[in-house]
Amino acid sequence: MINDANLDAFKENQEVKEVDTSRKVKIGIIGTGWIAQSHANAYKKLSDVEIVALADIVPGKAEAFAKANGLSGARIYNSDKEMLDNEKDLDGVSICTYNCQHAAPTINALEHGVNVMLEKPFTVTLDEAIAVMKAEKKSGKILTIGFQPRMSDNMKMIKKIVDSGELGKIYYMQAGGGRRKGIPTPFGTTFIEKETGGVGAVGDIGSYSLDMLLEAVGYPKPLTVTGYTSNFFGTDPDYYAKINHPEYAKKFGVDDFAAAFIRLEGDIILDFRISWAMNMDTAGDALILGTKGGLRIPSTECWNGEFDKPLTIYKDIAGSQVQYQVPLIPNKPNEPSLFVKKLRAFVDSIKEGGVATVPTSQIIYNQAIIDGICRSAELGREVEIKIPEI
Ligand SMILES: NC(=O)c1ccc[n+]([C@@H]2O[C@H](COP(=O)([O-])OP(=O)(O)OC[C@H]3O[C@@H](n4cnc5c(N)ncnc54)[C@H](O)[C@@H]3O)[C@@H](O)[C@H]2O)c1
Repeated sequence: MINDANLDAFKENQEVKEVDTSRKVKIGIIGTGWIAQSHANAYKKLSDVEIVALADIVPGKAEAFAKANGLSGARIYNSDKEMLDNEKDLDGVSICTYNCQHAAPTINALEHGVNVMLEKPFTVTLDEAIAVMKAEKKSGKILTIGFQPRMSDNMKMIKKIVDSGELGKIYYMQAGGGRRKGIPTPFGTTFIEKETGGVGAVGDIGSYSLDMLLEAVGYPKPLTVTGYTSNFFGTDPDYYAKINHPEYAKKFGVDDFAAAFIRLEGDIILDFRISWAMNMDTAGDALILGTKGGLRIPSTECWNGEFDKPLTIYKDIAGSQVQYQVPLIPNKPNEPSLFVKKLRAFVDSIKEGGVATVPTSQIIYNQAIIDGICRSAELGREVEIKIPEI
C-alpha cells in the first residue's frame, strides 16, 4: 500500500549540474514569432549556448527580434533554407514556425546535418511526420519535440505511479481539461488559419493532453479512431467582439473542439476531448483506470505541466474503498522553468551525443491520433491507423 514514505520514492531529486562552457553550442532559431521569444529567453539562461542565427520569412521580423532580445551578434536570414545553406557550423536549431511549416524546415535542417528541437505539435498530418522521421533516420541527428510538460516532476509522477504497478493493468483512460473560451489569437491568426495552423485545438493543446496520457502508459500504438471536430465558436464573429476582430471568424479554418474514441494496442481505450472554446468550464479531470486502482489527474491546461490540485489514487484495500492524494511536488528555490529544462535537455543531448528527450518514435503515435481524428471527422466513420515501417 502507498504511504507518505514510499510516495517519496516516486519523486525525483533535482540534479544540480556543472556545465562545461569551454565550447559554446551554436543555435539558430527558425521562425521568430511568439514562442521563439520563450526559446530565446531560455537559451540566454544557458551559459554554454550562443544564438548565432535567426530566420523569419516576414521581412524585418528576425532583425527586430534580434534587436529586442539583445542578439546583435546573430546573423539574420529570410528563411530556414537561407539560414541552413549559409550557416556551416550550427549545432542545433529551434524550429518555432507555425504548424504547417514544421515538416519542411525540419527535413531541411536534418538534411543539413543539424540537430532539431521542433515545437509541438510534431506536424499537421501523419504523412508529414513519416517524411520527417525518414529524414531523421537518414541524418542520424537528434530530433526532439517541444513538449515541456515532460520536464515537470508532477507530470513525471503520473508515469511513475502507472509503472509502479499500483493501478494494475490499465484498460481505460479519459482525457480532460480544455478551455472554456481561449482561441489563441493574441499575436495574429496563424493558429486559426488552415494554411498556417493546419489543425486547431486537437493539435495545439490536444497534443499535450495525448502526450500526458500516452507517455504514462508507454505510448501504445493507436489502432482505430472515431473522431469528431467542430468549429462553432471560431467561425462566429461575435466570439471576437471583445478583441474587436470580427473578421477573424472568416479566417478561422480549423477545429475549436474535438472528441474521439481511440483503441490502443494492449486493450486500452482512450476517451478523448479537447477544446479551445465551449460552454463549459472544463471537460473534466483526466482519469486512468486500472484493475487494481484508478488515478484522477486534476483538469489542467497541460502546456505548463502544473496541477493546482494533487493527483488522487482510488483503490479497494482490505474490502474498503479508499482514496489518497499524492502530494504536489513544489518547485525548489531557483529551479529553472520547464522551458529552460526542455532546452537544457536538448543542448545536453547535442553535447553528449545522447538521444532525444521526446523522441519521434513515440510522438508519431500522438500525431497518428490527431491525423486519425481529423480524417474520421471528415469521413464520418471510424478509421484505422496505419503507420509504415520507417
Ligand atoms: N511549447 C509551447 O508552449 C508553445 C506555445 C506556443 C506555441 N507553440 C508552437 O510554436 C509554433 C509557433 O507558434 P507561434 O505562436 O510562435 O507562431 P507565430 O505565427 O507567432 O510565429 C511563427 C513564425 O514563423 C515564421 N515562419 C514560418 N515559416 C517559416 C520558415 N520556413 N522560415 C522562417 N520563418 C518562418 C512566421 O513568419 C512567424 O513569424 C506552433 O507550432 C505552436 O504550436 C508552442
